[in-house]
Amino acid sequence: MKPAFVFGTRPEIIKLAPVIRAFLDRGVEPLLIHTGQHYDYEMSSVFLEELEMPPIDHHLEVGSGTQAEQTGLAMIKIEKVLVDERPDVVLVQGDTNTVLAGALASVKLKIPVAHVEAGLRSFDRTMPEEINRILADHASEVLFPPTEEARKNLEREGITENVYVVGNTVVDAVLQNAEVAERKSDVLERFGLKPKEYVLITAHRAENTDRRENLERLIEILEGLPTRAVYPMHPRTRGRLEEFGLWERMASIENLTVTKPLGYLDFLKLEKNAFAIMTDSGGIQEEAIILNVPCLTLRYNTERPETVKAGGNVLVGLEKERALGYLQRLLKDGELYRKMAGAANPFGDGKAGERIAEILMGLYKEGKLKVKSSKFI
Ligand code: UD1
Ligand code: UDP
Repeated sequence: MKPAFVFGTRPEIIKLAPVIRAFLDRGVEPLLIHTGQHYDYEMSSVFLEELEMPPIDHHLEVGSGTQAEQTGLAMIKIEKVLVDERPDVVLVQGDTNTVLAGALASVKLKIPVAHVEAGLRSFDRTMPEEINRILADHASEVLFPPTEEARKNLEREGITENVYVVGNTVVDAVLQNAEVAERKSDVLERFGLKPKEYVLITAHRAENTDRRENLERLIEILEGLPTRAVYPMHPRTRGRLEEFGLWERMASIENLTVTKPLGYLDFLKLEKNAFAIMTDSGGIQEEAIILNVPCLTLRYNTERPETVKAGGNVLVGLEKERALGYLQRLLKDGELYRKMAGAANPFGDGKAGERIAEILMGLYKEGKLKVKSSKFI
């Protein structure tokens, strides 16, 4: 069997690593195709190294651009590789432009697509990620929703065949690396942080960073933080802050350490030891509940509603009063803190990668990996 993985961004590398490893453990060597959507060392190579991934077979060097430029160029380059390599199945993960490009290029070549983390919906079609998720799901032959809730989203859209609820591979990644991170990373010492005495911040989503007024609202929240905080900053956010002339203001916030993006081991250690996390990231909302850290999400909706229902995550948007109010409550109200920190992880047992490999190998053996007609294309 010849599975191909198409990925290109930080979270895809982290969340696909356990699936790649599961194939390798079963004696199957997958083809690795990196679109190059993320290209800085600290957005890509650091994860390939830390997670001990095998060498990439095809580097496509797509880079940055508009939505269409990035997706289109990735499609063109992926298609060439797939024509040459003819894999049996193409795996994509999540909701980035790389995922859409990989899914479209493959399905049009009649190569089955397997979508890892299928069925997530924010129900907000202004997000590029929401469009990518919907289209990738409808182009896929095999779908791996992480939760029952995600499966139901697929069912509502008429997708019921070859759908397997397997958990989220983010749990596999956390379980495989948290202990190593705790042991190996000296990130707390480097930044002079004490466990449970700081807030970890990340924000990079287009809706929070592409408009000046939204970045100003983010800064106002951070200026009001009652504790130490650390913000490993995505290059998109740094770029926008500079463009809007807001970088100096962000960088001079007292008590806030702004750093470059960090490797996975450093970041996991920062998450695990944080008092609370404020983020607009999808993966970090998941990791927070897995690591028992209260999460305040700097968004107005989430495609991870399971975290909110479980009680570990609260949507605070870019509302200063609400965000800082919650943080103050967490500082004062031990019972609320324990409730949020103790919320049950809804994303499974950390064996999602193994299940995905087993299921795909089983389908392949039975001759069942074949293209189904798609509603959208
Ligand atoms: C993408 C995904 C988003 C995901 C995020 C993970 C889409 C539509 N969005 O957003 O869902 O949460 O990845 O981090 O696919 N840049 C660099 N160096 C890099 C990569 C990017 O400087 O290595 C800068 C460039 O200025 C670029 C900007 O960041 O224009 C945005 O990068 P891009 O890949 O388009 O989107 P992300 O914001 O990273
Ligand atoms: N992450 C990291 N270093 C950082 C920030 C994030 O290793 O400086 C990891 C984090 O642990 C999570 C993933 O990157 O696994 C989340 O990526 P991101 O927030 O960029 O994307 P999203 O999940 O929102 O698509």
